[in-house]
Amino acid sequence: MEHDVRQFDGENTGDTGKIIEKLDFLNTQEGLQQCMDDENFYLDIVSTYVEDNVLEDMQKCYLGNDWAGYRVKVHALKSSSAYIGAEDLRAKAKRMEDAAKQEDVEYISLNHHKLVAMYEDLMRKIAAVLPKRINLEGSSQIKQFTIFVVDDSRLNRQVVAEVLSDSYNISEASSGQEFFQQLEEGNIPDLVLLDVHMPRETGHDIIGKLKADERFAHIPVVFMTHDNDLSTELAGFREGAVDFITKPLNPALLQARIGRILDLYYLQSKLQEEVQIRTQDILDKSMQMTVMFDQIIQALANTIDAKDKYTKGHSDRVSKYSVMIGEQLGYSEMQLMHLKYAALLHDIGKIGIPDWIINKTGPLTDEEFEIVKTHPVIGGDILKTITSVEDIYNGAMFHHEHYDGSGYPRGLLGKNIPEMARVINVADSYDAMTSRRSYRDMLTQEGVRGEIEKGLGTQFDPIIGSIMLQIIDEDTEFTLHE
Ligand SMILES: [Fe+2]
Repeated sequence: MEHDVRQFDGENTGDTGKIIEKLDFLNTQEGLQQCMDDENFYLDIVSTYVEDNVLEDMQKCYLGNDWAGYRVKVHALKSSSAYIGAEDLRAKAKRMEDAAKQEDVEYISLNHHKLVAMYEDLMRKIAAVLPKRINLEGSSQIKQFTIFVVDDSRLNRQVVAEVLSDSYNISEASSGQEFFQQLEEGNIPDLVLLDVHMPRETGHDIIGKLKADERFAHIPVVFMTHDNDLSTELAGFREGAVDFITKPLNPALLQARIGRILDLYYLQSKLQEEVQIRTQDILDKSMQMTVMFDQIIQALANTIDAKDKYTKGHSDRVSKYSVMIGEQLGYSEMQLMHLKYAALLHDIGKIGIPDWIINKTGPLTDEEFEIVKTHPVIGGDILKTITSVEDIYNGAMFHHEHYDGSGYPRGLLGKNIPEMARVINVADSYDAMTSRRSYRDMLTQEGVRGEIEKGLGTQFDPIIGSIMLQIIDEDTEFTLHE
């Protein structure tokens, strides 16, 4: 339910100051202080105090020997009496609360009627002084946040509403049951102000239920408590409360505290949301770039293969075999990706070799072969600008180096040859042997295996070559070929 903002109508009731003067049996100074020295506000609170008569409930508990219930009622009476400045009654209610806490039935029996008499007397005196109240419409200001006040004390709910209704929408519930019913009906607040001591479900029970329900767990909860002790606060924080406000509520403090919590809480969640959106955005863009990079490399590889009609699909297959070896070497995802790119582009230098040599049927002359042997350097030259992935250059430049130093263009020895180039060398040779040429058919699997084995330690890195042998042995159907 939305709270009605009720105020005394100054024109009809005359000077509020005069009314307050007549309330001389109350500590009105204390009461006014609680209401930020707002006289209308104070009179509203006093008025609610009278309307909110807890006498009947208190009597019921007393007659039924319900001391837990009695304790809650006198506790409420104590705090509401403190609000309006009814000091004697507050003190009396406090003693009764202590007695109820200790189940000191004798003390309660002796003093209950005195308490009731004091209470009734006070109510009569206040009622005689106070004029009737009228309802005014609430503020028309746009209120961004809704605050739910859950408190069995109507007076407390009213204090909160009075203090906060100018800035926030206020919803109220007098019990956990009523609160959850409203939540189920879709009245989801931005913050809950929760009383700790309530009959039936306590504040602790309510926050427990709230935090266990994923629909409501995000709502910040502020406890309102009289127990200004560390253990209650610690328990509350453990249960998920974001803050504590001590009763009797100090209006200025309440306003400042709530404002700060809402600012912090929603700034934080907005920030988190923003970070999430930005991160996703970056991931999307990065994914887009990766896909584009992949496609460009693939397109380049296709360009190389298109030039050589006899080795169609060569770059793709070398890339596939290289990655199979890389996996056995325990490469990371990133390394495998680099290896894949390097292998796809290893023969890019063939673009600089005349077509008639590339597509010549039959064996090459020594002179022609010398020209073909320049393709790693041409490739290295083409790819040297790709400094972000060094392996791409290395793959093109060094894939014809031999482990024993007999390769080209540099004649590098052993581990001086970049590892990925050694991998590509094995994969490249394997594909050459398992592809048809215009002048020969592909070799048998056994023949290929023999050639690789023979090259271990001479052409091939012995470890990488052995991995290739293992791959061959596992390929029992001989599916790995052109
Ligand atoms: Fe090559």
